Amino acid sequence: MQSRHVADFNHDPWAAGYDVEVQNEQTPVRAGYSAVLDWAVSAAQITPTQVVVDLGSGTGNTSARIGAAARMICVDISARMTAIAAAKLAHRPEVTFVQADLLGFFATQPRFDALVSTYAVHHLTGAEKGDLLRLIAAGLRPGGRAVFGDLMVKNAAEQQRLVALYQGLGDADTMEGLTEEFYWRIDLTLPQIAAAGLELVEVRRFSELSWGIGVRRPAPAHALRPGGC
Ligand SMILES: C[S@@+](CC[C@H](N)C(=O)[O-])C[C@H]1O[C@@H](n2cnc3c(N)ncnc32)[C@H](O)[C@@H]1O
Repeated sequence: MQSRHVADFNHDPWAAGYDVEVQNEQTPVRAGYSAVLDWAVSAAQITPTQVVVDLGSGTGNTSARIGAAARMICVDISARMTAIAAAKLAHRPEVTFVQADLLGFFATQPRFDALVSTYAVHHLTGAEKGDLLRLIAAGLRPGGRAVFGDLMVKNAAEQQRLVALYQGLGDADTMEGLTEEFYWRIDLTLPQIAAAGLELVEVRRFSELSWGIGVRRPAPAHALRPGGC
């Protein structure tokens, strides 16, 4: 399975300036960036024996925040973003890099214990986000967590309010992101999470546009009952 707009959102052209750009949290799309990455890594509850996926890993800013893991798999379509991540994580022998589509990757890695993804899944359409959640539910260890930090809006009314706000401010870049990319619609995502068989753990807002969503694959009932068979 491949996503529709992978060629448009391959970050090769922006790789060289990316790490400087994300530090400017005055920009609406970057406000909360660092806090979102910190939260996503902590909410995933990664332990040293786990296989962890960083989906849409870019220059490795999220992976670099992850502590000990048995294996960390950084997935991104951009060779240039990945080259920067590889230099940043060169001292971590447990890290491997896979150049793949956000949806296509799952055919190569059927099982993992935890997944984090920051500022990448808004490049998938709404329906593709549903596909992604199903792929994650199929591969995630029971009891394991998937955590997303990304650009999101509560619902259509909030999206319209924000478009009007940034139009009024003459901020064409932020308006373009809101209208031409696929920022998560939280009201549409929550039913997709349930339909995929995942449990919602947390929804948290970090700035006007940056939110976090944490989900868990339910553990089988007998695993929760001490002495159960
Ligand atoms: C905005 S960057 C985020 C990088 C990093 N996770 C962070 O938080 O800084 C989005 C990344 O997703 C990658 N990407 C976008 N669409 C993709 C797709 N369909 N398949 C694989 N990678 C994709 C881009 O190449 C880019 O590196």
